[in-house]
Amino acid sequence: MPTFYNGKHLIDTDGNVVHCHGAGIMEYDGWYYLFGEDRRGDNRVSCYRSRDLVNWEFRNVVLTLNSPTGRHYVRTEPQLGPRGFGPDGLPKVGPRGANIERPKVLYCEKTGKFVMWMHYENGRDYNAARCAVAVCDTVDGDYTYLGSFNPVGNMSRDCTLFKDDDGTAYFISSARDNADMIIYRLSDDYLSVDEQIKTLWPGQFREAPVIFRRGEYYFMLTSQCTGWNPNQGGVACSKSIDGRWSSIVPFGNTTTYNTQPTAMVKVGEDYLYIGDRWDPVDYQNSKIIILPMTFPAEDRCELVWADEVEFTETGIKTTAREVEEFRIVLRAYVDYVGSDGYNIFSKHLGYNDRSLLWTREEVDGGFMLRHSESGRYMSGDGIMADYAENEPRLVWSTAPASEGELLINKHSGKSVLIFGRRVILADADDKRFGGYRFVENY
Ligand code: DGJ
Repeated sequence: MPTFYNGKHLIDTDGNVVHCHGAGIMEYDGWYYLFGEDRRGDNRVSCYRSRDLVNWEFRNVVLTLNSPTGRHYVRTEPQLGPRGFGPDGLPKVGPRGANIERPKVLYCEKTGKFVMWMHYENGRDYNAARCAVAVCDTVDGDYTYLGSFNPVGNMSRDCTLFKDDDGTAYFISSARDNADMIIYRLSDDYLSVDEQIKTLWPGQFREAPVIFRRGEYYFMLTSQCTGWNPNQGGVACSKSIDGRWSSIVPFGNTTTYNTQPTAMVKVGEDYLYIGDRWDPVDYQNSKIIILPMTFPAEDRCELVWADEVEFTETGIKTTAREVEEFRIVLRAYVDYVGSDGYNIFSKHLGYNDRSLLWTREEVDGGFMLRHSESGRYMSGDGIMADYAENEPRLVWSTAPASEGELLINKHSGKSVLIFGRRVILADADDKRFGGYRFVENY
């Protein structure tokens, strides 16, 4: 049975790594079509297709810096490649071309065309904050780029598309430097904004919108704004898209299992969450994660981690490993250089630092921590030491710190402070270490 392995690179049917990030999924003609960011060379948007969400066939780079252009809007430059200068004397587009993020595609029954909306930046800075549109006669053909603009004059960054059951399409994007999430109803050819119909959660700074419908409810998933680093995902719902929406409540764990929402796809009666596991150090190493979403009530949804998602004839079967790998991330600054020689740096530790990845091994009374890179267990002498048979295995436990955070402590009444490969013990209430927190995730 086809099985999706989370945490590993997705390999296409030609044996190549799938480059398709910030992706959208569209069902067409019995296939799932995946459109996503492809930042290699002149590529901008790639398209793959699958019948089972596991085996993906590469179809085309549907948008490149050299795509054909057309003009549909006034006051827009239908240009993605580096060419020419603007009235300010600066190049219109940076030397490596424009950036395209989070492309999504819908099929428009009225015109018989496939329409792509996306986030455009000029490749020089991140200030254009525009949406852009491209169109094609075939689902995976060469799209014609129609240009970029600020919808209703608004900034427009992370975005998504949604087609309702009656064929009405909506574009949703983060505005006002991400402070607000705006819903626009599109014209009937899906090429223009008809009207701005809703400003959601003003001032709450949300990104990565994904919208879907189940039963009587519309659900919108979003993330917080933390660049490429993951954060706690949130979900809200409403019975009407332009009506009153609920507050945002958390789903998944404190880092949404190290993902950021990008799409939702329905398979039979099941809903599958598609997330980006960004690699902040090496973008090309970012991975696609697929997890089934469950609905404990009509207006609630939940996401549980699974290493394997198997599509069987009788439904989806998930498997989660017993030994969990997790990262410990320092979330706050520590300003202390001890007279006792501890050299504590006042800096954030990068999320992607391999030295922060640990395996948790359950034992009686708690767990042991094994350093993924070196294979050594965490020792209590202040510095991580080789584990020797005659050395007592130290057992740790966790206690809640503040909401969504975890403090690893309760070893001889001490808390543990981790800096890369160094482990320092401190009293939990030691004010010198004020402001440190650890987050547990996968
Ligand atoms: C988070 C967004 O959701 C991504 O699409 C990307 O824009 C990064 N921020 C860039 O920092």
